[in-house]
Amino acid sequence: MKINRVESELASSPKKWLITGVAGFIGSNLLERLLKLGQHVTGIDNLSTGYMHNLQDVRQQVGEENWSRFVFHQEDIRDLDRCRKAFEGVDYVLHEAALGSVPNSIADPIRTDQSNVSGFLNMLVAARDSGVKRFVYASSSAVYGDSPGLPKVEKEIGNPLSPYAVSKYVNELYAHVFASNYGTQSIGLRYFNVFGKRQDPNGAYAAVIPKWIQLLLDLKTPVIYGDGATSRDFCYIEDVVQANILAAVVKKKEAVNQVFNVAAGERTTLTELFSLIRSSLAPHVPEVLAIDPEFGEFRPGDVRHSLADICKSQELLGYAPRYVPRTGMVECITWYISKHRSSGDGLALTG
Ligand SMILES: NC(=O)c1ccc[n+]([C@@H]2O[C@H](COP(=O)([O-])OP(=O)(O)OC[C@H]3O[C@@H](n4cnc5c(N)ncnc54)[C@H](O)[C@@H]3O)[C@@H](O)[C@H]2O)c1
Repeated sequence: MKINRVESELASSPKKWLITGVAGFIGSNLLERLLKLGQHVTGIDNLSTGYMHNLQDVRQQVGEENWSRFVFHQEDIRDLDRCRKAFEGVDYVLHEAALGSVPNSIADPIRTDQSNVSGFLNMLVAARDSGVKRFVYASSSAVYGDSPGLPKVEKEIGNPLSPYAVSKYVNELYAHVFASNYGTQSIGLRYFNVFGKRQDPNGAYAAVIPKWIQLLLDLKTPVIYGDGATSRDFCYIEDVVQANILAAVVKKKEAVNQVFNVAAGERTTLTELFSLIRSSLAPHVPEVLAIDPEFGEFRPGDVRHSLADICKSQELLGYAPRYVPRTGMVECITWYISKHRSSGDGLALTG
C-alpha cells in the first residue's frame, strides 16, 4: 500500500506506538510524523546520544494538542524490567535505540554489545510478552560488510567489518529465531546513510553530513577520510520515516519477518557530497565557496562503496523514496541554517 493511503487510514484510526531511541535523530523524526498523524506515542531513551532539546524541537513543530499524546520514559534498554511498562497496550514498536557509530564500536565493543545486542534482545522479549502487533527495528547497511557486489541486495551479505556491524547482524538473527520460536512479527530495516534535521553534528563520532555542515558554517575545513572516491547511498530522513510506517502496518505475509534496504538507491562519492553541501550552503553563507576539503587517512572498519538495491522494499513494502540527496540536502540545510541563526553563535544543538 502507498504511504498516503496508509497515513490517512492511521489518521482516521489512531494506534499506539512505542519508539525506542526517541530523543535521537531518527527517533525524534518518527515521533514528529506520528504525532502529526494523530497517533499515541510512548518513547524510551536514556539520553546517551539523544537530547531533550530534540524532543523540545518536536514539541514546537507539532503543537501542544499533538504533544499531549506523547509519554516519555527516560529508561535504558539494557534494563528490561524498567522498560516493560512502556510496552503496555502498544500496537507497533519502532526500535531505534542503539549506539550507532562504527568507530565507537571499534573503540568500545563491549558497550556497543550491551546496548545493541542485549538491549535489542530485551526489547524483543518485551515486545513478545506484551503481544505487540509488529516489531520494526533499525538494522544497517553495515551488515553487508566486505561483500563486493553493488548494488547491495538483501540476501547477499559478506563478513562484518566492525563490532557495530556484528551487532546489527545479530539483531536480524534474533528477530528470525523469535519468529520461528514464538511467532513474533518483526521487520528489519537496513538503513543506508541517513541524513536530515536533528542529526547531531557534535562529538567524535558525528555523522559526516551534519559534521561538515557545522564545520562549513563555522568557516572551518572538513577532512575527507581517504581519497574522496568512497561512496555512499545517502537517504533523506523523510524516506526513512516512510519506510518505518509502511513496515509497521504492511499486511503482505511475504513482507513479515524480512529485512529490507532503506535508501535513496543513488550513489554519491564523498567528494561529490562535499560539493553538494558547499553549493547548498553558498546561497546562505557565500564565504564557504572559498573552502576546499583536506584529505586524511582511510578509517578502519569503513566499507569502500555502498549502494542499495531497493526493489524488495518497493515491491513488498510499497516504499517509494521521495527524495534524492540533492533535494533532501536543500531541506536539511534550511533547518541547520535556521538553528544556526536562532542560536546567534554557532549551532545550538548540544544537549
Ligand atoms: N543515522 C544513520 O545513518 C543510521 C544508519 C544505519 C542504521 N542506523 C540505526 O538507526 C538507529 C537510530 O540512529 P540515529 O542516527 O537516530 O542515532 P542517535 O544516536 O541519534 O539515536 C539513538 C538514540 O538511542 C538512544 N540510546 C542509545 N543507547 C540506549 C540505551 N541503552 N537505552 C536507551 N536509549 C538508548 C540514544 O540516547 C539516542 O537518542 C540506530 O539503531 C542506528 O544504529 C542509523
